[in-house]
Amino acid sequence: MTQLPPQLHYLHHDQLSTLCLENVSIKQLATQVDTPFYCYSKAGLVNNISACKAAFEPENIHIHYAMKANSNLSLLRIVAEQGLGVDIVSIGEMQRALNAGFNAQDIVFSGVGKTTSELTAALRAGVGQFNVESKEELSALISVTSECQQSVSALIRVNPEITVDTHKNITTGAKGNKFGVSFNDVLPMLAAAKQSPFLNINGLAMHIGSQIHSVAPYLDAIAKIRALLNRLEAQDYPLTHLDLGGGFGIQYRDNQALNKTDSTAAQHYLTFADFANAIKSALPDWQGRLSVEPGRSLVADIGVMVSEITYRKESQPTPFLVLDAAMNDLMRPALYQANHALIPVQQPRSSLLTQYDIVGPVCESTDTFAKSVQLSSELTAGELMCFLDAGAYCAVMSNSYNSRTIIAEVLVDDNQAHVIREPITQTDLMAFEQHRRLAKI
Ligand code: LLP
Repeated sequence: MTQLPPQLHYLHHDQLSTLCLENVSIKQLATQVDTPFYCYSKAGLVNNISACKAAFEPENIHIHYAMKANSNLSLLRIVAEQGLGVDIVSIGEMQRALNAGFNAQDIVFSGVGKTTSELTAALRAGVGQFNVESKEELSALISVTSECQQSVSALIRVNPEITVDTHKNITTGAKGNKFGVSFNDVLPMLAAAKQSPFLNINGLAMHIGSQIHSVAPYLDAIAKIRALLNRLEAQDYPLTHLDLGGGFGIQYRDNQALNKTDSTAAQHYLTFADFANAIKSALPDWQGRLSVEPGRSLVADIGVMVSEITYRKESQPTPFLVLDAAMNDLMRPALYQANHALIPVQQPRSSLLTQYDIVGPVCESTDTFAKSVQLSSELTAGELMCFLDAGAYCAVMSNSYNSRTIIAEVLVDDNQAHVIREPITQTDLMAFEQHRRLAKI
């Protein structure tokens, strides 16, 4: 049977079963925090980081957390305390990383469109590694380093042009993707960088996509890159650093599997160790530095989004559960047809199931979380529900569409809970549109 995430369980008390994250009752929490809200487990995060370190560190592979997956400061502080580096894609992320306690040296700056002012700010802050994604960015970086008279280390991000079996919106290493440069561009870029007294290009970077469930595309990409490195070495450009990106897939639970009681449906999902072993096996004689940038795999299963059923709207052939959460709070289903299992906070007494469509209140038909989901027939308005595996690319992608509040985030640590982001309300947002704050241009 598909299991709940490790920190989530039903506590049986007085013939009722209530969902708890670590030792905090979600029902109790919802009396203090307005729904919908995100809720994360500190133990979940620490455990995921430990598992990741245990797999990669013995192989001498450095880990930089791709903070785009979840950049809440309280979570970042935990990641920094655990000794990981961080991968950023904007100056906003750099500010958060520094605020959370990461050393600038442990920051990798990725991204296809770093502006001159972002490059300058990152250089001044002492960011340790720039992953350069084009000839044009290389020229900009060379200019910035000579203006600031400051040396910097960089890698060239290549596009290995391989096929990855994931959602088409989240491939990044296929032909035609905007990321990285083609192999043919690398040599002229190295030659250009050699002219600069400030820019040291130490190696190559790749990131082939996200939510990848096989080691095969990593092996393909690494083999291609290894051959490129050999060619470059022969041309007198010995490179000593490979950054292999993130993309390690996780198991998103789904309602169908949660309803099943037999274990035959269980699929094998890769662990950090599987990816670490594959990387090592693809680079048996590599003496240089290796690093990875996991995002989702560190934070996805530590979080839930708690929501209340506003209406059980009877309809033929399928009733709707209209939630108080919407696509602006959790965009992944609308954007990638992603499936986040939905479970009741109070376990129903009867095992009778009904098929529902799960929707939010936003005025768009894409505001549909799931169709034809089997859930308890007892569900009615007022019932609390939890979306699972909502720690990665959920809160960070939320917005205020339909003038909705950007919802709170809560962190649970054993039997304690803390609000780690206050809700951002329309009162807050309207302040930016008030006359006294608006600049005359
Ligand atoms: N490094 C780079 C350069 C990246 O662009 C990304 C993710 C990562 C690392 C981390 O990848 P991960 O380990 O999390 O797969 N919003 C989408 C995912 C977009 C991923 C973008 N890049 C989603 O919700 O599925």
